[in-house]
Amino acid sequence: MKPEVTMIAAMTENGVIGSENGGIPWSLPRDKEHFRTRTRKRWLLVGRTTYLEMSGWFEDRTPIVLTHNRKFQPEAKGHRVVNSVPEAIALAEANGARELVVCGGSAVYHAALPFADRLIVTKISFDGEVIAPVLFPEFHSNKKWRLTERERWNSDANNAFKAELLTFQKRPNNGDENPQIS
Ligand SMILES: NC(=O)c1ccc[n+]([C@@H]2O[C@H](COP(=O)([O-])OP(=O)(O)OC[C@H]3O[C@@H](n4cnc5c(N)ncnc54)[C@H](OP(=O)(O)O)[C@@H]3O)[C@@H](O)[C@H]2O)c1
Repeated sequence: MKPEVTMIAAMTENGVIGSENGGIPWSLPRDKEHFRTRTRKRWLLVGRTTYLEMSGWFEDRTPIVLTHNRKFQPEAKGHRVVNSVPEAIALAEANGARELVVCGGSAVYHAALPFADRLIVTKISFDGEVIAPVLFPEFHSNKKWRLTERERWNSDANNAFKAELLTFQKRPNNGDENPQIS
């Protein structure tokens, strides 16, 4: 059976997911914990840049690295390498994975969105707009997604920003209705 494809990302209200020079321009421990929990024991799809950025982090998970470079050597024996998103889905399926979790970065989110069944999005509220060129693909306006879960996180002593944890499911008919959130 084909694995469900879930994309997981944290972003600002205007879709920024990363800094111009790499890395993520905020720290939100609650979201890190959510990401750790939601990816544990899963097959993950990560772009080569994000994979190298997260070096040493993948214990208890099976990362599949997306790259055009057929000779790319991953850092650990169980880590896999593919050259396309369909190849990653087929590899996860061949290994009996029920879910493939797409963990970014921007290029990989863009490549994987047409294959995604579910989006898990942490929307982080800042006082001002964050401007950076590393973006999540536009998805609210394409009418394909239905908001199914919404959890509000307040700021606290450990988490400087308010956020919302949103889950969207792809509409079975690819959506003729208006999306429920904009
Ligand atoms: N906020 C979040 O939730 C989140 C999550 C993850 C990452 N990020 C941030 O995102 C940024 C990195 O994003 P990015 O777009 O620069 O890099 P990326 O998506 O992590 O990796 C890009 C690389 O992946 C490979 N790739 C991408 N699409 C491909 C395709 N269709 N076929 C084959 N290979 C493909 C290419 O590798 P080759 O060049 O080797 O061919 C490309 O250079 C960082 O700032 C990171 O911190 C944020």
